[in-house]
Amino acid sequence: MENLYIHTAQLYDADPREVFSADIPFYLDRAKRLGGRVLELACGTGRITIPLAREGVEIWGLDYSKSMLEVLEKKLQKLSTESRQHLHTVYGDMTDFSLSEKFKLIFIPFRSFQSLETDEQALQCLSAVHNHLEEDGQFIINVFKPIKKLGAWWVDPAENLDYESVLESGEHVTRHSIRKRVDTERRLLFTDFIYRLDQDGELVQEFHDSIRLRYFYGDDIRRLITSSGFTIDEEYGWYDGNSVQDGREFIFVCRKSTGI
Ligand SMILES: C[S@@+](CC[C@H](N)C(=O)[O-])C[C@H]1O[C@@H](n2cnc3c(N)ncnc32)[C@H](O)[C@@H]1O
Repeated sequence: MENLYIHTAQLYDADPREVFSADIPFYLDRAKRLGGRVLELACGTGRITIPLAREGVEIWGLDYSKSMLEVLEKKLQKLSTESRQHLHTVYGDMTDFSLSEKFKLIFIPFRSFQSLETDEQALQCLSAVHNHLEEDGQFIINVFKPIKKLGAWWVDPAENLDYESVLESGEHVTRHSIRKRVDTERRLLFTDFIYRLDQDGELVQEFHDSIRLRYFYGDDIRRLITSSGFTIDEEYGWYDGNSVQDGREFIFVCRKSTGI
């Protein structure tokens, strides 16, 4: 399993792009409207989990990366006691977990579901979600929208700048990615991330991680969701409610199907 950000978790939150903040009010609004307990699968550093806990949402965050959870734990130390009491962290695998609570809202944000490389893993995850969702609960899942049929065109061995940003320490950080390889049969994208820290123009440190993401076509992911006992009620292409046709993402809002 590669997508655990072992070398770069401490830099994960430096991302200044809109895609890294636009989803927070969306999930907060859903959590508030539904009320009750919330579970975020693959919560990472708590980018979304923490703002929801701050707003009084009773939230569980589950992740399989000790490095990401360590960053989350450090951030928790800066929270008020009250907000901390709303947040429960779980070290676990989203394809195989068993919690004693059931949830009104379960969500898998920011394309984390694409870390699951096979249909089998995806279905195991969806089955665990089904088991933990209240009968009248909501399940929300996001993956990126494919731009066209996957092929060799996707590979680009050059370093491309994803973003640059400034850390609290004052250091300047850049993240580049290399689209290293594609497996068109298994529909997997292999990407390297390179983070560089510099101060006053001098390179201070460099960190590398690799990730593998599954490329889902719309109908594949819809089939996986609906064959797992869910009905898709709403589909969006962005967090402002934009349509799938016009947006860059797939955001599916689902509920348990009745009568199965
Ligand atoms: C792109 S990050 C998203 C983190 C956070 N949800 C956010 O929106 O910023 C993907 C996360 O998925 C986690 N992950 C990958 N596979 C997982 C699995 N099988 N079970 C739980 N977490 C997993 C990684 O450790 C990482 O924290």
